[in-house]
Amino acid sequence: MPNMESQNIYYKDYLNLSGILGSQHPISFEPGNIPAHDEMLFIIIHQAFELWFKQILFELDYICGIFGKEKINDNSEDMNLALHRLKRVEKILGLLNQQVTILDTMTPMDFLEFRNLLTPASGFQSVQFRLLEARLGLEMDKRHHADYYKRTNQGGFNQNDYQAINEVEHAPTLIKLINNWLERMPFFEMDHWQSYKKETENTLHPFWNDYRNIYQQGLTERETGKIKDFDFTFFEIIPKDMAEEQLSVLRSTLSPAAMRAALFIMLYRDFPVFQNSFQILDTLVDIDNQLAGWRHAHYRMVRRMIGMRVGTGNTSGSGYLEGAVSKHYVFRDIAGLSTYLIERKKLPKLPEELIMKLSFFAS
Ligand code: HEM
Repeated sequence: MPNMESQNIYYKDYLNLSGILGSQHPISFEPGNIPAHDEMLFIIIHQAFELWFKQILFELDYICGIFGKEKINDNSEDMNLALHRLKRVEKILGLLNQQVTILDTMTPMDFLEFRNLLTPASGFQSVQFRLLEARLGLEMDKRHHADYYKRTNQGGFNQNDYQAINEVEHAPTLIKLINNWLERMPFFEMDHWQSYKKETENTLHPFWNDYRNIYQQGLTERETGKIKDFDFTFFEIIPKDMAEEQLSVLRSTLSPAAMRAALFIMLYRDFPVFQNSFQILDTLVDIDNQLAGWRHAHYRMVRRMIGMRVGTGNTSGSGYLEGAVSKHYVFRDIAGLSTYLIERKKLPKLPEELIMKLSFFAS
C-alpha cells in the first residue's frame, strides 16, 4: 500500500524554502540607506558557502566515526564509504573554488556601496569554516597570526562560538585518527618477513635497512643531507649537527610509525589490497590542495576588491589571507612523502608470506 503521508509532501515544505528564501535581508535596503544592488549577491554567495560547509561537516562527522573505530578492515564497506565521502568533500571544495569567481562580477566600487554597513562582521567569523578546519586537524597554535583567533572582541568570535571551535580542536581530529589508523598497520611484524632476502645489514627492520640504502644511493650530491631528514622523519634519529629550528621544520604531525606505514602504502600501492588506503591518503592531499586553492582564489579576489585595506574582521586583510594560504595545510606531511620515494624498479621485493598476508589484512 502506498504511504499516503509521503504523497502529501510538498516541495517547498520539504526543503523549508520559506525559511531559506526568506533569509536574505540586505542592510542597504533598509529605510534610511541607499539600496546597493550587489548586496543581494554578497549575501547569497555567503549563504550558499555555508550550506556547503554544513554538508562537508556532515561528511566529516561520518568519516571520523569510521576512523574512530577500534578496528577497521581496510577492505570493508566502511572503508569504501569513508573514501567515497572523502572524495565528495574534495568535489564540494572544488565547486567552492569555482564559486568564488562569481564575485568577479561585482566591482570594487559596487562593494564600497555597502561595505561599511557590514563592519565588524567578516567571513573570518564563519564558525562552520573554523569547525571544518579544526575537524580536519588545523591547530589554533599553528595558524598564521594565532592571536587573531583568540580574541573575542570586535571582529573575533563570540564566546560560545570560540568555545565550540576549541572543543572540536580537542576532540579526535581526522589527522589524529588517520595517524592511529596508520600506526595500527601490521606490515612490519617480523612473522611476515621470514623469507625476505635482505641486501643490507644495519640496525633497522630488514626492509628499512635496504630501503634506506637504496634511497641514499639515489640522492644527488646536493641532496646528500636528505638521509638525515629520512632518519629523523621515519626513525626519530636526531642528527648531532641539526639545529632545533631545522628539526621543527622537519617535525611531522604524524608519528614516525604512521609515516613509515604511509610511505609503504605509497610504494606498494599497486597491490590491490592497498588501493583503498592509498586512495584515502591521496584524497586527503587533494582536500588540502582544494582548500589551498580556495584560500588563494579568495585572497586574489580580496586583493582586487579592497586592495591593501584592513578587513572588516579587523585582520590586516589580504596580508593575513596570504599568510594563511602558505601556512594552513593539514596533510602537508603526507604530500611531503614524495621526498622519500625511490624508482619503482628499485623497490625491494616483498616476501611471499607478506604478500599472502596483504590479502587478508584487517587491522
Ligand atoms: C567581497 C567579497 C569578500 C571580501 C572583500 C572578503 C574579505 C575578507 C577578508 C579581508 C578576510 C580576512 C579577515 C578580515 O579581516 O575580515 C576574509 C576572511 C574570510 N572570508 Fe572573506 N571576503 C569576501 C567574500 C567571502 C565569501 C563569499 C566567503 C564565503 C564563505 C568568505 C569567507 C571567508 C572566510 C572563511 C574567511 C577566513 C579565512 C581564513 O582565516 O583563512 N569571504 N575575507
